[in-house]
Amino acid sequence: MKEMQSVPPPRHHRARLKKPTWIIILVSFVCVFLVFAYIYPLQNSGACYIILSSSCNTIYSWLPPPAREFSDDETASRVVIKNILDLPSIESNNPKIAFMFMSPGSLPFEMLWEKFFEGHEGRFSVYIHASKAKPVHSSRYFINREIRSGKVDWGKISMVDAEKRLLANALKDPDNRHFVLLSDSCVPLRDFDYVYNYLMYTNVSFIDSFDDPGPHGSGRYSEHMLPEVEKKFFRKGAQWFTMKRQHAVIVTADNLYYTKFRDYCRPGMDGRNCYADEHYLPTFFHMLDPHGIANWSVTHVDWSEGKWHPKSYHEQDISYQLIKI
Ligand SMILES: *[C@@H]1O[C@H](CO)[C@@H](O)[C@H](O)[C@H]1NC(C)=O
Ligand SMILES: *[C@@H]1O[C@H](CO)[C@@H](O)[C@H](O)[C@H]1NC(C)=O
Repeated sequence: MKEMQSVPPPRHHRARLKKPTWIIILVSFVCVFLVFAYIYPLQNSGACYIILSSSCNTIYSWLPPPAREFSDDETASRVVIKNILDLPSIESNNPKIAFMFMSPGSLPFEMLWEKFFEGHEGRFSVYIHASKAKPVHSSRYFINREIRSGKVDWGKISMVDAEKRLLANALKDPDNRHFVLLSDSCVPLRDFDYVYNYLMYTNVSFIDSFDDPGPHGSGRYSEHMLPEVEKKFFRKGAQWFTMKRQHAVIVTADNLYYTKFRDYCRPGMDGRNCYADEHYLPTFFHMLDPHGIANWSVTHVDWSEGKWHPKSYHEQDISYQLIKI
């Protein structure tokens, strides 16, 4: 009994000593955790300068560099674009697809398009941007559908200007829900209902956008586009898009990114040739709404010949097999 009684006191004594030690260790861990929890979110918010100004420099020296701070113009652009994209789309009782033709003059396939449009009156609208000569029409659907046009030089910003002009005019009709850019050499490969349903019931825009690290892709990038357009966001894609209404609105509203491409993505820039029509929209959407675009275009173009212009199809090339591809 005596021995048993003599054992517990030291145990008690030790336990009383241990308790504060553990509390101190626990509190220290909590402190370290809290300090980390504060420091990590702060590096993004910029609040670090207010709360921890003296220790900031040492923290920044071993943490990855903070996200770039946006300029006033960028902040304004991004917030407007985000708000437009977040708006629920207004239901239209009579949703239409705008077919926007970019052409130097007369459209050789008007009669083919007439067959495509026939019987679907009220579900589409036609806009023509004729940059050189007033077109002579062979189909009633094209009469008086020209918009006021401007000069278009191949590979220059005037191509993008024509696209924006078509979008702005087509946006005037609130029933236009989807916008398709076409050239005078485009022909429909599917019937109207197929195209209408495909575009109308998809919530993405079909904009070709890919990363080409070679000289004809990122090699065309100019650092003059900094800070708004970083090289890692620079994308390429064929210009023939289809886009939903919200996207048509943000393209029409954009001036900031457009100006960067107008001034620094042009033939002969820094000794290189950059073509705004191949880079502006693919980069713009990749930066501002990457999940809202399909990254490919529904317009078939064959670039496999590796020339400045895509493959042309001649009478003898046209077969059922070709159209099936
Ligand atoms: C499109 O719809 C799909 C499924 O209906 C959805 O998962 C996706 O987030 C939508 N995308 C956009 C950009 O709204
Ligand atoms: C398009 O590409 C972007 C980024 O490369 C990606 O985030 C997005 O999900 C892609 N869109 C679709 C529909 O796969």
